[in-house]
Amino acid sequence: MKILITGANGQLGREIQKQYGKTDVELLLTDVTDLDITDVLAVNKYVSENKPDVIINCAAHTQVDKCESQLDLATKINTIGPKNLASAAFSIGAEIVQISTDYVFDGEVDKNLTEFDKPNPKSVYGSTKLEGEKLVRALNPKHYIVRTAWLYGDGGNFVKTMLKLSKDHDELKVVNDQIGTPTSTVDLARVIIKLVREKNYGLFHCTCKGVCSWYDFALEIFAIRNINIKVTPCTSEEFPTAAKRPKYSVLRNYMLELTTGDITRDWKEALKEYLADLDA
Ligand SMILES: NC(=O)c1ccc[n+]([C@@H]2O[C@H](COP(=O)([O-])OP(=O)(O)OC[C@H]3O[C@@H](n4cnc5c(N)ncnc54)[C@H](OP(=O)(O)O)[C@@H]3O)[C@@H](O)[C@H]2O)c1
Repeated sequence: MKILITGANGQLGREIQKQYGKTDVELLLTDVTDLDITDVLAVNKYVSENKPDVIINCAAHTQVDKCESQLDLATKINTIGPKNLASAAFSIGAEIVQISTDYVFDGEVDKNLTEFDKPNPKSVYGSTKLEGEKLVRALNPKHYIVRTAWLYGDGGNFVKTMLKLSKDHDELKVVNDQIGTPTSTVDLARVIIKLVREKNYGLFHCTCKGVCSWYDFALEIFAIRNINIKVTPCTSEEFPTAAKRPKYSVLRNYMLELTTGDITRDWKEALKEYLADLDA
């Protein structure tokens, strides 16, 4: 089997490479310099020449606040890129994996959200990702759309930011009124690989298990690392950002539960392993 990974240098792209690296799958690894997913001609040419069986799109504009002032760029990367890939995959009978986000929801109800709940994005990032989902679904029936949240892995992320800040601060304020689930790229990549192996098409939520705020997440990072730092909870209003974020965007992995089985771990267990690997 031949798999094309776009955005292969990102957090998820690197983890998927690592996990497939232990198998006999042939990988075609591209990032923006080799294959810009927003360039329809380049995508069509690459796909028709290389003929992957599956395209896993790990490319995205993930800077949520910057997206607010970069609507065109966010639309190109998060909506048009997935469209180009889904359609190129369809033209050769290949499958497409598109990664999406909890930010497609408004997060205004304290309810764990399933694939059957209605999205209502409040940010440019969330709405451009949702439009990407829709086009992938419309253009290629052999699709896996996987929504995740609060992702960390090999790249810049909240865990690394907290560790860095703790080096030169005695006290940190962290938002305590946004609730979600930190998710390791290890768990997400395992699920994606399983879905592809089982040809289990459709829309899936995939986060680790459990629920916390960014404040709880920070406390857990420092507890595991034995870092002595004062962490004070604050509200989103005290920490204004360009993009509005959902207050409660806990995803329930309902479709995984009902189909292939939910193999994700509790968020604290996954975090512990991640921090141990960072040490190593
Ligand atoms: N990070 C999160 O907390 C989070 C939460 C929910 C969902 N997700 C979704 O999960 C997926 C993976 O996220 P991630 O954290 O692994 O992302 P990431 O680390 O930001 O990686 C994205 C990669 O895409 C590349 N890229 C950007 N524009 C491109 C283009 N036009 N063509 C090809 N490649 C391009 C980036 O290159 P440059 O770095 O050079 O721009 C980067 O290597 C994304 O779909 C994201 O929306 C992420």
